[in-house]
Amino acid sequence: MDTRQPLIAGNWKMYKTGPEAVETAKRLRDLASDVKTTDIMIAPTFTAIAQVADILKGSSIATGAQNLYWEKEGAYTGEISPSMLISAGCSYVIIGHSERRQFFGETDEKTQKKVDAAVKEGLKPILCVGESLEERESDKTFSVLDKQIEIGLKDLFSENLNNLVIAYEPIWAIGTGKTASKDQAQDVHRHLRSGIEKNFGKDFSKGIRILYGGSVKPDNISELMAMPDIDGALVGGASLDAETFSKIVHF
Ligand code: PGA
Repeated sequence: MDTRQPLIAGNWKMYKTGPEAVETAKRLRDLASDVKTTDIMIAPTFTAIAQVADILKGSSIATGAQNLYWEKEGAYTGEISPSMLISAGCSYVIIGHSERRQFFGETDEKTQKKVDAAVKEGLKPILCVGESLEERESDKTFSVLDKQIEIGLKDLFSENLNNLVIAYEPIWAIGTGKTASKDQAQDVHRHLRSGIEKNFGKDFSKGIRILYGGSVKPDNISELMAMPDIDGALVGGASLDAETFSKIVHF
């Protein structure tokens, strides 16, 4: 029996000022205080991380970031290093989200450097992969994902990747209200797990958590979580409201 503790992660994207983020985090902390067997994480904007982490200290909800830069420090105006995130209270970091790939020039090579830096500094990376609608319709889903994983994890070794999480987020399902069906998602998750097995071995592939993301809502989370290779969710829009996100973490 595989024992992967589910992880439900909220990506707040570029929403909520500091005070707004604090209010939602407080509410969520109270609403989710009974959740013991599912890991929960929220990733506010950089400017709200320290305040949110402070509110969540002592609760079972972790704080994450939505991006990082791989250097330790230096003349890199506008960037934030792994150790800065850790000192602000982060334990997770989302890497390679499709919005970063689409709008900010994030490549597979950059995601690899970010994953590497995150694990070396002790952050848990959530590496996002996903195909566009055009790629799905032209039957390229698996080859696109294989490349994202192959380059994104190139030269990394399972001993250092114990805390790695993968998030499968079909781009056509993000913020569109279109969810991959549970069977479509399960097919991809199974494929990803077997690819990871080939590269990193069976034990590693059995332990790694693969999240689904893309229009996850209270009314579709249970059927997704019932699939054998879906270990959690990366939630955008529906994580912004504490009541709605609480329903998801109570799936
Ligand atoms: P969504 O976003 O839940 O709003 O579709 C998911 C994500 O971008 O991580």
